[in-house]
Amino acid sequence: MYKIIGCAAAIVLAASAAEAQTVAPPAWMNTMLSPDTRADLLQAKLTRDEQLTLVHGYVGLYEPNRFHAPISAEMRAALPQSAGYVPGIVRLGIPPLNESDASLGVANGGHMRPGDQATALPSSLLTAATWNPDLAYAGGAMIGAEARAKGFNVLLAGGLDLAREPRDGRTFEYSGEDPWLAGVMVGEAIKGIQSQHIISTTKHFAMNDQETARTVVSADISDAAMRESDLLAFEIAIERGDPGAVMCAYNRINNVYACENDYLLDTVLKKDWGYKGFVLSDWGAVHSTADAANHGLDQESANGVDSEDFFGAPLKDALADGSVPETRLADMVHRILRTMFALGLFDDPLVRAPINIEADGDVAQRDAEEGIVLLKNEGDLLPLDPHKRQSIAVIGGYADRGVYSGGGSSQVIPIGNEPAQEILIGGAMVWSNGEEWQIPKQVVVLDPPAPLDAIKQEAPRARVSYDDGDDIASATALARRSDIAIVFVHQWMREGVDVSSLSLYGGQDELVDAVAKANRNTIVVLETGGPVLMPWLDKVPAAIEAFYPGNRGAVALTRILFGEVDPSGRLPITFPLGDSQLPHPIITGQNPVGYTIATVGAPTAYDVIYTEGAKIGYKWFEDQKIEPLFPFGFGLSYTSFTFDGLVASGGHTITASFEVKNTGKRDGKETAELYAAPPGGLKRLIGFVKVDLKPGESQHVTLTADPRLLAGFDAEAQLWRVPAGEYAVTLGGSVADNAAAATVRVEAGTLKP
Ligand code: BGC
Repeated sequence: MYKIIGCAAAIVLAASAAEAQTVAPPAWMNTMLSPDTRADLLQAKLTRDEQLTLVHGYVGLYEPNRFHAPISAEMRAALPQSAGYVPGIVRLGIPPLNESDASLGVANGGHMRPGDQATALPSSLLTAATWNPDLAYAGGAMIGAEARAKGFNVLLAGGLDLAREPRDGRTFEYSGEDPWLAGVMVGEAIKGIQSQHIISTTKHFAMNDQETARTVVSADISDAAMRESDLLAFEIAIERGDPGAVMCAYNRINNVYACENDYLLDTVLKKDWGYKGFVLSDWGAVHSTADAANHGLDQESANGVDSEDFFGAPLKDALADGSVPETRLADMVHRILRTMFALGLFDDPLVRAPINIEADGDVAQRDAEEGIVLLKNEGDLLPLDPHKRQSIAVIGGYADRGVYSGGGSSQVIPIGNEPAQEILIGGAMVWSNGEEWQIPKQVVVLDPPAPLDAIKQEAPRARVSYDDGDDIASATALARRSDIAIVFVHQWMREGVDVSSLSLYGGQDELVDAVAKANRNTIVVLETGGPVLMPWLDKVPAAIEAFYPGNRGAVALTRILFGEVDPSGRLPITFPLGDSQLPHPIITGQNPVGYTIATVGAPTAYDVIYTEGAKIGYKWFEDQKIEPLFPFGFGLSYTSFTFDGLVASGGHTITASFEVKNTGKRDGKETAELYAAPPGGLKRLIGFVKVDLKPGESQHVTLTADPRLLAGFDAEAQLWRVPAGEYAVTLGGSVADNAAAATVRVEAGTLKP
């Protein structure tokens, strides 16, 4: 008699001791065969109903569940109570897919598994700010291992929508505004996750660039511009990370929903990019059976959140009446099974285990230490001396409890969380259109440890005092009697809601102003999801962008403040001077209704017309000839660097060699950023490398551009075309820093997408 051991595919004879003997494993368990062959062998054994089972997932979040289809008690017991669940086929040893969010750690965000804690990585935007692909990989491998240990074999990670709209409430879950930087970093994170033999997604495919009315808006953009921007980022990440699944988005693209968008899913993803994995839907993003199935959706993720059950009985009916061809179901199942084989879900089944809190925390800390960006440091106020007897005022930002984290499905309940680390914010908010809107109270999770404690530990001889900043008079009184004042300000972002402005809310600008007036050694620490405005910048000598720095964020920040670590983060996103500098000074359609997370009964559909096309972030600023507050790629260090000996050559692409030297007195890491502008075009990032240098040390570097970064997309011919001509190449520590320059001739060329 066969008995399946756990969810694994190992099949043994186990009825009695006498009977117990191993039998030959089924043919599809032969690891010498390709994933495609193994999938074919297994698929041939599946009944129609079993095939339908594999393409139909259930939401795992809600208790009691709102399932449209009845589920067995066995299945209910198996639901891991996280994001989603696709039943396996026990008879054949096909494991279920246990899905958890997301890119910043195993999301256990309060809806489920009370008491569970996981290591919170810094925000993905911070990881992008490291410009260090190894750290993205290491973070991915760490959260992948935690996911495995907690019983998940799918991590709904790989968030990659470009920061075309920096007020997007999920800016912190994404990797900034540049397709090359974001694509490389997310690709590496995916690779890290999948090194743990689980599936990672990349999401939300595509153009889910604002949260306002995300379930109904149509992102309207030309084919060429989309290929050169948002899609290019996905293309790069998919090539590099080869995610097992791609999650189609909530929104429509040029009026067709992403999860039934033939152009996006079939033409671009599966045909042009040759993608072999499967497409799963975002939770509530399916709107049809035949249209979705015929246009590229392979698995409905979330029965229970979608407005109807689309891939259960309705798909069976559609197959019966021929509106969905049999070959399509076969393709869906093949894609799912071959991915499960390719990534080791059969050969390396899940084993629950405790997580390694210390080692995982170290990974998060290294990430934070390289991603926190020093924005200003007049008179070398920083680093502070950890041995000095001095008084330090720590003000605001709940710095006595932890550091900010972003909200929504990616929310990780961090290691060391306790009720004191969760605060409620809410109340009246004035939208940019002048209307007032009462925000329901929301839980904000503060990741421990507290900056206040970390500072006390780092500087044992200092007298460190805290003021919550609520009463400006008391905060300034403390600042006045202290040698140093460190003010913590924050911008909370969450999924489902865009911030209406990049301004800091709740009187924080006034607080900084007042503290700066009271103490000329004022350092501002920003814990923000994305860029914010800093009207007080001229009045403070030092500012540090800490983003959401994760579970060991306070330790990383403190080590930077006191000089144990050289700040080496560089901005992966432009910081504007005001909302009016953005391509859309007000988020299209934003009004109080935009606040609601609408999945069912959504507000009226409307279009967001992206007239700026591929000119996102720094490209927009150059095009408009406007100066931002801080340019893309910017960040200071405690040491100094030079870029010398630039030699650039052309031809089919651009290759540049140069030397980066640490000319200062401290160890430090610099990111060399290489940009090129095609004839008559705008600068684009075409390569980068981060180097770690001792004082006086230098390193020779050669970078070669991916030719797509030089090209434009010819939508009519469906080809990349590299224009011939003289390209202006610049090298430096930001898009605005032309430390070295050259001109090279590039030959005309075409590339297949
Ligand atoms: C989010 C996805 C997430 C899913 C499951 C959706 O609301 O957009 O990013 O993976 O929920 O939690």
